[in-house]
Amino acid sequence: MRDNTTNNTLLALGGVGALIGIGLLFTFERPPIETVQGGFRGTSMGQVYNPRTVNRLAAVNQVPPAPEPADPGGERARDVFQNVQVLGHLSVEQFNRIMQVMTEWIYPRENIADGCNGCHVPGNFAAEDIYTKHVARRMLQMTMALNSTWQVHTQEVGVTCWTCHRGQAVPAYVWSQQPVSSNGGGFATGPGEQNRPGRQVGLASLPNDPFTPYLWRAEEIRMQGRDQHPRPNSRQSIQQTEWNYALMMHMSTALGVNCTFCHNSRAFSSWEESPPQRLTAWHGIRMVRDINNTYIEPLRERFPPHRLGPLGDTLKVNCATCHQGVYQPMFGAPMIRDYPELLPPPEQRRAEAPAPGWVAGPRLP
Ligand code: HEC
Ligand code: HEC
Ligand code: HEC
Ligand code: HEC
Repeated sequence: MRDNTTNNTLLALGGVGALIGIGLLFTFERPPIETVQGGFRGTSMGQVYNPRTVNRLAAVNQVPPAPEPADPGGERARDVFQNVQVLGHLSVEQFNRIMQVMTEWIYPRENIADGCNGCHVPGNFAAEDIYTKHVARRMLQMTMALNSTWQVHTQEVGVTCWTCHRGQAVPAYVWSQQPVSSNGGGFATGPGEQNRPGRQVGLASLPNDPFTPYLWRAEEIRMQGRDQHPRPNSRQSIQQTEWNYALMMHMSTALGVNCTFCHNSRAFSSWEESPPQRLTAWHGIRMVRDINNTYIEPLRERFPPHRLGPLGDTLKVNCATCHQGVYQPMFGAPMIRDYPELLPPPEQRRAEAPAPGWVAGPRLP
């Protein structure tokens, strides 16, 4: 015969057990998990995948079929239309083709003519009265630069408007500066909003905005000291390390990879021991600074307030804007191959890489 106390104790234990069970169920990823080895045998530089996650990513990384190629011959667009500043070198047929696909990529509508109005004043294609037309022109120039100057990063596959936009006026993954909230937190809440785990830094307790210093300003991404003793005012502080790690968490999350995709974890700073992907990533960081400083932020005055962040800066690009969880956007599908319209005119194509020390960009307030 059990007394009531024993019964209650058993009940309580059962309850706690159930709670732990439920906790385990939702905290860990269910198997199967697959590992792919990257580094030399024995270095354990593996990438861990869950086939379920990969299937879900495959669904959002589809590329719409390309329309029939256009005839590059015949009259030039600049000779036929009134106000063509970037695409004048195209044939009229190519010009019309790119207008049509841009509509499908950015303002898809049941009736395509409605989509044209995303960037045009109805009835007057030459008019400049709508901000989106000006923005689209800069976006065209940017896309051309990404497919030429920045081929060190975008490789043969290249990018189109779809790589970022995927059928939406504003890409799904963008960032802007966020106000520092003053509630709670106390001294633990520094300027980086630390201890308020952010999804963009993998829910880790790290500064929430590694983008402003590293992908808008061009601050050094170096924190491993070379000296025995820390030096005053050096970049090698614990705080610096946390900002650095916040960016690294973003890069890993955005690409859906572990740190060892780009580093040999026995020596994070050593370039000699890093896989080649780290160099591609290094160029990627410079490319994103160029996108944000040269193309997007100068459009600040053009955008209406609802297209800006809460502090009035533009919605900018980070690694997730193109990569969206996979290390080769759209799983490596060729993007530029079907759209010669998005290459710069031949005389402007620069094959050589940009200067390695690209650090332009204004100092921020
Ligand atoms: C995403 C923005 C965008 C969309 C959507 C768009 N256009 Fe355009 N359109 C532009 C830009 C930018 C220019 C100027 C290109 C340049 O300066 O090289 C332009 C120029 C034109 C011109 C030349 C006008 C002239 O005389 O100077 C025509 C014609 C045109 N578009 C037709 C269309 C049609 C038709 C559609 C719908 C199928 C369309 N556009 C959809 C951005 C867009
Ligand atoms: C590297 C990523 C990227 C690529 C590639 C890109 N865009 Fe954008 N685009 C953005 C971002 C980010 C914004 C949002 C800026 C904001 O709202 O502050 C934007 C905004 C726009 C807008 C304004 C939308 C609105 O309704 O306010 C237009 C139009 C546009 N892009 C056209 C294009 C066209 C056309 C192309 C291809 C020729 C293109 N974009 C390629 C990142 C990109
Ligand atoms: C997509 C590639 C990539 C991934 C993934 C990545 N890193 Fe990095 N990491 C880099 C690059 C590139 C640099 C150098 C950046 C520069 O010099 O501008 C760097 C720099 C660093 C540094 C600074 C080294 C020094 O010289 O002081 C550390 C530490 C670091 N990463 C740690 C990590 C950690 C930890 C992770 C996983 C959470 C990670 N990285 C994930 C590419 C990557
Ligand atoms: C404008 C779109 C765009 C942005 C933004 C972007 N990438 Fe990429 N990235 C690409 C393309 C395109 C490729 C080439 C993919 C291929 O070869 O299939 C690529 C390739 C890579 C690779 C090599 C993958 C491999 O399998 O070798 C790495 C690493 C990488 N990107 C890291 C980054 C990092 C880190 C950032 C942010 C700092 C970034 N990328 C931002 C478009 C982009």
